[in-house]
Amino acid sequence: MYLGIDLGTSAVKTVLVDHAQHVIASESRSLATVSPQPGYSEQDPAQWIDATFATLDALKASHADALAAVEGIGLSGQMHGATLLDASSKPLRPCILWNDGRSASECRILEQRWPALRAVTGNKAMPGFTAPKLLWIAAHEPEIFAATRLVLLPKAYLRLVLSGEAVEDVSDASGSLWLDAARRDWSDAALAATGLSREHMPRLVEGCAPATRLRSELARRWGMRGQPMIAGGAGDNPAGAVGIGAIRPGAAFVSLGTSGALMAPTDRIAANPDRVVHTFCHAIPGMWIQAGAILSAASCLAWLARLFGATEAELLALLGARPRAPSPVSFLPYLAGERTPHDDPVVRGMLDGLSHGTDRAAIVQAVLEGVAFALADCRDALADAGIGIAEADVIGGGSRSAFWLSVLANVLNVPVHRFAGGETGAAFGAARLGRLAVTGEAIGDVCMRPQRIETFEPDAALVDAYAERLPAWRELYRPRH
Ligand code: XUL
Repeated sequence: MYLGIDLGTSAVKTVLVDHAQHVIASESRSLATVSPQPGYSEQDPAQWIDATFATLDALKASHADALAAVEGIGLSGQMHGATLLDASSKPLRPCILWNDGRSASECRILEQRWPALRAVTGNKAMPGFTAPKLLWIAAHEPEIFAATRLVLLPKAYLRLVLSGEAVEDVSDASGSLWLDAARRDWSDAALAATGLSREHMPRLVEGCAPATRLRSELARRWGMRGQPMIAGGAGDNPAGAVGIGAIRPGAAFVSLGTSGALMAPTDRIAANPDRVVHTFCHAIPGMWIQAGAILSAASCLAWLARLFGATEAELLALLGARPRAPSPVSFLPYLAGERTPHDDPVVRGMLDGLSHGTDRAAIVQAVLEGVAFALADCRDALADAGIGIAEADVIGGGSRSAFWLSVLANVLNVPVHRFAGGETGAAFGAARLGRLAVTGEAIGDVCMRPQRIETFEPDAALVDAYAERLPAWRELYRPRH
């Protein structure tokens, strides 16, 4: 039996997976994000721990026997967050999250201070990443910077609480801007550019490698027979890739979660930081992921549902099964700024083309299309790095909407596929990594692609209609700096 724990942005989700890779049970507890100032995004690390423990306590109440048999645990997590710990491993302040835009000027300073940054990390310095957040802390909260002994990504903090050891996997670490992406090790020059050294960093392991073990008192609390192994795990995007078997070149996929991404596993680094392509180590050795990342995807639909006082399902029900033509309204999904291709933390969203005749359906459709157009920008940035996309699997909450997937197939002009749902996702991928760390099985034997339940083929007339609309949609973007 294996556990996958995904410390997401909106919730912690824990799944219990058996040896036949069936999800036996799953529990989730939601998390709150606070924004003390516009563009800021923070979470209290204590709630990650409370939420994780609550999921495990609930599993103990409902599935005691299965939980007792857990041998391996995999962790997945929201990437890039800066959790700063003092000498007694206590958080010094709330974690600054991946969608926090406060450190734009620190990014410029970082790139000036360390001109090799893009070449070594494969990434452009952006406020979402961890390193510029530390420069911001040094400038604005110097007493906290001085007291910082350890800097951990969210799931490494969770692992520290679970195990007592500070260990991180290379996929999540590659979102910090402190990793030498080719060597899969910390870069001393990168750390020095932010006034840090290896001593401030956790030990590194590969995602599918053993990292540490669950503390004995916690194993007892959850009735486990032994002290389960905790694997390196992965950032949520690479963990999602493991969950759907995207472990080889050509297995591109789209994630329609709170944030969105178009990701392509590669067996070599094909970086394009100038077009804001992200370079991540994959959760399996010898592989990387090149990704276009957008900051708001399914969260745009959630925003609209709040605005209209309706549920997301009610909004989607206004649309029918498939688009017939692009909406007369256009939407820029930059509600939290944007990464690929703009790297613009201050840009905001836009609705264009409203009239007296505009109804809710036109706006809902525009929102789904705007996210798909943003993913077309990601596709073009990847193409610029020599990565072509012939088809794409889709994961994340947004993949439940057939209408959205049909829009995506037509905007990207490739077939898109979806899965049944339950046995996918970052928590499931994490459980697979937990298993690999225990059994040492061949990666391809464990990380199979789940069965695709539906394929959305592009339709020539709609492909043309969306291709015609795309340049006008791009024209709507006006940098605010
Ligand atoms: C990826 C990214 C997000 C977070 C949130 O670069 O910032 O996908 O991992 O889940």
